[in-house]
Amino acid sequence: MTDHAAEVDALPKAELHVHLEGTATPELVRRLARRNGVALPDGLFADEHTFAWTDFLDFLRAYDVAASTIRTALDYRDVTYEYLTACAAEGAVYVELIASLDHGALVGLGDAEHIAGIAQGIDDAHADHGIVGRIISSCVRNFGVPAAEDVARRTVALDHPYVVGFNMAGDEAGFPAPDFARAFAIVAEAGLGCSVHAGEHAGPESVRAALALPGVRRISHGVRAIEDPALVEELARRAIVLEVCPTSNVVLGVYSSYEAHPLPALRAAGVLVTLGSDDPPYFGTTIGREYRLAHERLGCDLAALAAITRTALDAGFARHLAVNLTDHLGDR
Ligand code: ADE
Ligand code: ZN
Repeated sequence: MTDHAAEVDALPKAELHVHLEGTATPELVRRLARRNGVALPDGLFADEHTFAWTDFLDFLRAYDVAASTIRTALDYRDVTYEYLTACAAEGAVYVELIASLDHGALVGLGDAEHIAGIAQGIDDAHADHGIVGRIISSCVRNFGVPAAEDVARRTVALDHPYVVGFNMAGDEAGFPAPDFARAFAIVAEAGLGCSVHAGEHAGPESVRAALALPGVRRISHGVRAIEDPALVEELARRAIVLEVCPTSNVVLGVYSSYEAHPLPALRAAGVLVTLGSDDPPYFGTTIGREYRLAHERLGCDLAALAAITRTALDAGFARHLAVNLTDHLGDR
C-alpha cells in the first residue's frame, strides 16, 4: 500500500494523544535551556537530534529533565506554536495537547500563566495555519494520589475554555488506576472529558480498571486489551475510543515490530481507534508519519485513515468549536 503516499499526506488528520512537553525537540530543548540559563545534564542526548534513554521508566526520567527547560509562559507558547505549526504542515486540522500542571509547578510556573502560554500558542498557530488546538490537563500517576487530586482540583478551578479534558499519564504498572478514582470524580463532575493511559505497560486488567474510573470515554493506548477477547468486545460495544500510538509502542518495546502491532486486529473487531505520536521526537515520529505507517504497515487504506480522522474529530473533547472540523473530510 505504498502508491498512495501523496494522498495520505494530503488527508486531513487529527491527533488526540500527544504530550506537550514531549513535543519539544532536542533543538528546542537546547534553545530553551540557553534562554533560561538551565544547565542540561550529560547524557540527555544520544546525538544532536536524539534523546537518550534505555527503557520506559528511563524515558519518563529523560522526559522530566527535558521538560524542566520549559519554564515560562513564553516557553510554553513557543513549544505549542512550533508543534502545531509542524502538525499543520502535515495536514492536521485538530490536535489535543496533553499538558501537565505538575511540570509547570515544578519550575515555579503558576497554573493560569502556564495555560495562558499554551493558549497563546494555540491562538497564534490557528491564526497563522488554521489548525485548532485544545488542552487536556494531565496528572502523572507516579507523582502520587494527592498530587493527582490536586491537579484535578486546579484543572477545574482554571475553568479555561481551551482545557477540555483530563488524562492520567506515567507509570501504570506501579500505580494502579483505582487509587485515582477521586481525582477523576472531581473532573468528571465538572464536565471534563476523561482519558487514561492504560494497556501500554500493563495488560488488559489495567484497561478494565481505567474504564471503571468516573467519566472515562477514551483510553490512551489501550492496545493490550487485545489479550482479552471479552474486553475487546466490550470496547467495541461501548464505542470506547483507543488513542493508539504505534511507533511509541514499537520503540518502547510493547511490540517487537509494526507487523506485531494489534491495531489491525482491534479495527477488525470493531474497536474505534485514532492515531497519535505520543512524544514525537523521543520516538522519531510525527503525526504524518503515524498515518503513513498505518497505511503502509498496518493495513489502513485511505478510507480507513479518513474514518480514523473522523473518529478523532467525533471523540475530541472540544465542544463549541467555531468551525465544523468534519467539513475538512468532505465526502470521505
Ligand atoms: N508520559 C509521556 N509519554 C507517556 C507514555 N507513553 N506513557 C505514559 N506516560 C507518558
Ligand atoms: Zn501518552
